[in-house]
Amino acid sequence: MALIGVFDSGVGGLSILDEALHQLPEHDYLYLADSVNAPYGEKSSEWIAARSLALCQHLAKEGCEAIVVACNTATAQAIKDIRHALPQIPIIGVEPGIKPASMQTQNGIVGVLATEATLKSDKFNALLATLPAHCQFIKQAGAGLVPMIEAGHANSDDILELLAQHLTPIQDAGADTLVLGCTHYPFLRKAIRKLLGDTITIIDTSEAVVRQLKRQLDLKPAPSIRRKTGAVLFVSSKDESSLLNMAKELMTSDLSSHQVLAKHLGGMQ
Ligand code: DGL
Repeated sequence: MALIGVFDSGVGGLSILDEALHQLPEHDYLYLADSVNAPYGEKSSEWIAARSLALCQHLAKEGCEAIVVACNTATAQAIKDIRHALPQIPIIGVEPGIKPASMQTQNGIVGVLATEATLKSDKFNALLATLPAHCQFIKQAGAGLVPMIEAGHANSDDILELLAQHLTPIQDAGADTLVLGCTHYPFLRKAIRKLLGDTITIIDTSEAVVRQLKRQLDLKPAPSIRRKTGAVLFVSSKDESSLLNMAKELMTSDLSSHQVLAKHLGGMQ
């Protein structure tokens, strides 16, 4: 079984880890939350690239055989450098699902909620340029949402109010499809449904990302021992017990069927 590193600026990547535990529960996971530095989305490209690379190098040193950069912002700014620095390890990134959105929209109007750094990135804009011109993308930076989710307020009235402000331009434009372009945002799904109703199509790429991880793992030699579930180690640069509590609260996977440990990220503040 493989040890898989999953990295995010904070708790957002738990949405990807959750899906990975559903699809691939037999592997071991090291989840790394850089919560002391969240949000990444309002930091400079250079800072995001350097920090993301350093953390992925740390995951490689810890023995991870595959790494999921479970952060759209870090993927946009750093995935090229990470792949270059760690050529021996499959590096799976996360990108806003604007391509599937362009295929699923009926009226051609698509809202994209992501961090400012993702929306401004060359990678995102290069992908956007490949999509059909008849599709209109309403881009909205979700300023302030990540800190509230990090503080454990994903289901609060305050976040509902802030989210309503961010979704207004998307709603006013008449979008029939909404792309969740930040891994923290799937935890706002209920609030989004409350504000936008049941008919809007929500695009979240976690399932596709984990399918891509599976394809990469399938290329490795099959293990001799099969087992049902592996271990999950939660590592935080801020507060590991709060990370563990949030994992239990936010994820739908049954963590009690895994061996679970939490640790502080030492020496990399
Ligand atoms: N979860 C992250 C993303 O997917 C980053 C959010 C942030 O730290 O600003 O973009």
